[in-house]
Amino acid sequence: MERTFAMIKPDGVQRGLIGQIITRIERRGLRLEALKMIRLDKDTAAEHYKEHVGKGFYDSLLDYITSGPVVVMAIYGDSSVSMIRDIVGKTDPKKAAPGTIRADFGIDISRNIIHAADSPESAERELNVYFDGSEYQNYSKPDEKWLYP
Ligand code: PPS
Repeated sequence: MERTFAMIKPDGVQRGLIGQIITRIERRGLRLEALKMIRLDKDTAAEHYKEHVGKGFYDSLLDYITSGPVVVMAIYGDSSVSMIRDIVGKTDPKKAAPGTIRADFGIDISRNIIHAADSPESAERELNVYFDGSEYQNYSKPDEKWLYP
């Protein structure tokens, strides 16, 4: 069992996709432990994307991610890092598999709707950018006794 981080990006919020995205996460059986809508400032965005400093898309990525509210989430469950990455799909919506969020709702790599941590280490680092420990809700859902043996 592990905790991962995902963020609905400004285009996902502005296009009214929050509900549909969260539904996909919940129906897979994963549990939301924390959720909030925030507006990233440049410093937070730079901290989040610090591994991409110097890349050609870096400045436009920061402009995009700070252009409107985002929804940040902590998501818990068995193999949640890879499960969420599978639900989200490949970075470029044009290459994402049908049925993934990016393929079903997106067209362009620079407006790809949602971010998801790519490893347990990234998840821990990114969660610490957006949440402090007291923000995680510790509860269980009745269906979990049927989701897990
Ligand atoms: S790399 O170079 O392979 O590490 O980059 P990649 O993993 O493909 O992408 C890193 C993040 O940058 C976003 N990205 C872009 N944003 C805006 N414009 C362009 N052209 C672009 N290309 C990549 C990409 O969505 C990744 O962000 P996250 O939030 O992790 O999806």
